[in-house]
Amino acid sequence: MQNILVTGGAGFIGSNFVHYLLKAEPDVQIVNLDALTYAGSLENLPAAGCAKDLPDAEQYHFVHGDICNRELVEDLLRQYQIDTIVHFAAESHVDRSILGPAPFVQTNLVGTFTLLESARGVWGESGGFDGKRFHHVSTDEVFGSLTPEAPAFSETTPYDPRSPYSASKAGSDHLVRAYFHTYGLPVTLTNCSNNYGPYQFPEKLIPLMILNALRGEPLPVYGDGRQIRDWLYVEDHCEAIHLVLTKGKPGETYNVGGGNQPCNIDIVRQICAILDEFHPDGAPHERLITYVTDRPGHDRRYAMDITKIQSELGWTPRHDLTSGLRATIEWYLSHPEWVAAIAQQSGYNDWLEKNYAKRGGKR
Ligand code: NAD
Ligand code: TYD
Repeated sequence: MQNILVTGGAGFIGSNFVHYLLKAEPDVQIVNLDALTYAGSLENLPAAGCAKDLPDAEQYHFVHGDICNRELVEDLLRQYQIDTIVHFAAESHVDRSILGPAPFVQTNLVGTFTLLESARGVWGESGGFDGKRFHHVSTDEVFGSLTPEAPAFSETTPYDPRSPYSASKAGSDHLVRAYFHTYGLPVTLTNCSNNYGPYQFPEKLIPLMILNALRGEPLPVYGDGRQIRDWLYVEDHCEAIHLVLTKGKPGETYNVGGGNQPCNIDIVRQICAILDEFHPDGAPHERLITYVTDRPGHDRRYAMDITKIQSELGWTPRHDLTSGLRATIEWYLSHPEWVAAIAQQSGYNDWLEKNYAKRGGKR
């Protein structure tokens, strides 16, 4: 691994991965290709362009562009002699996929297809696939929804996606595996559970609750709030991807999860309790909890069986939910300038209005 193309590296997990990799692999060169949609921001890469805390400015290049642009992708693969692709770029929010699925099909399916075709073409014409790797970052949502007693998702659980988002990710996973079986492209996949941590756009549950609570706004809990997710601290996820890149076997998929599975309302209450401690001004923050109309087709429960990555690669998450939430809340409290910049540039307020209007929540 020497020259890495990271797609979607200005988004939440991708930017955390860029930060992580520059520390973990001081000798790699990173090319970050990102379209800077509402979810991507150069604010997530404070070092980018000004080389403040980069080990070496030559090591990192940002390219503003679309993964669906095959000519651009092929040029980058050639120009930077890319040997490793780590593919994060996606439309990633279920609620948005319900309101407008078209960009999900375009980026998640057509975009992944474009990257695969580019890698097959450029790598194929320049010495073959030896020493190359295409890593695809996917989600536990492709497996569908679990009943309360059902065993956690394993790598062999049949796919059963239920939202336009998860269906588009499922399709992209199938394409990636097809390129391994059909063309021998050396791919690996990780399917991970819900991430949280620094730089997460405040449309997802945890950052939305933190920032709404700080602004004294309602905390919108969908339906009965008893849905369950398997929460993974983003730095642990980055470590898992790095391990799969260096030790994972081509053609293999690894499930990644945090082992934290409380229901949504318990997480929201825990966030409120931590905020009461760190930011007593608005306490008790629980008074802001507001139940709103449920998401259509809302998956009830996700849980990941991580035995494979634990036993084969020796990865295990370092953060439990309490330590991860405390670190996350501290980060949001100590980065008001990031919050202000993101709110301004990304239409965060417009999104909240639209989402609330749809759900009939009180504001
Ligand atoms: P995000 O929405 O925060 O960031 C996505 C990034 O991709 C943004 O920077 C955006 O500008 C970029 N992008 C979107 N369309 C693009 C295009 N056509 N060309 C180039 N760049 C484009 O997403 P995230 O939460 O960081 O998720 C990263 C990956 O991890 C996604 O593939 C997602 O499906 C997967 N995943 C995320 C979670 C989670 O909890 N966030 C859980 C499981 C899997
Ligand atoms: P989200 O962060 O959107 O991730 P995903 O839908 O990919 O799991 O939502 C996590 C859970 O929180 C999900 O069950 C929906 C719920 N939720 C709320 O109750 N209120 C909210 O405002 C949001 C954004 C999510």
